[in-house]
Amino acid sequence: MPIELIVNGVRHQVDAEPDTPLLSVLRDDLDLTGTKYGCGEGQCGACTVLIEDTPTRSCITRLSSAAGKRVTTIEGLATGERLHPVQEAFLRVGAMQCGYCTAGMIVAGAGLLRAKPHPSDAEIKQALQGNICRCGTYPRIVAAVRMAAKNGALRA
Ligand code: FES
Ligand code: FES
Repeated sequence: MPIELIVNGVRHQVDAEPDTPLLSVLRDDLDLTGTKYGCGEGQCGACTVLIEDTPTRSCITRLSSAAGKRVTTIEGLATGERLHPVQEAFLRVGAMQCGYCTAGMIVAGAGLLRAKPHPSDAEIKQALQGNICRCGTYPRIVAAVRMAAKNGALRA
């Protein structure tokens, strides 16, 4: 029996086993390839999506646990043509090198600002500590989230 997923505001009926990783469904069934496969073990954060506003590792989340909940991927953060403040800030600060961790970092940052619009640097670092950047871009990533908070993450 198909499982209902609500991704970026759109309802989908997914025909897959309940224990299929959410990440596979997003990438392979729904063609939302912005969310990346890194370690596949919940250790790197490349696959981070929001489930009901909470940053979640989609590689270790079963499809059945996301059923009927609001899932937001990197593709769902912008509002029409307007980027989410965290996306905008990443571009302005240049908070990426190879870019592999970027979607997960942005989604985790957006999740933090939804829960806490004005975090301290320590809170930003803590929120992103499970997201690995192999290129070592951490200082600029923290600066970008700080800038997004300043520029009004609340409007997103
Ligand atoms: S791919 Fe999910 S945490 Fe690494
Ligand atoms: S920019 Fe390369 S892994 Fe973060």
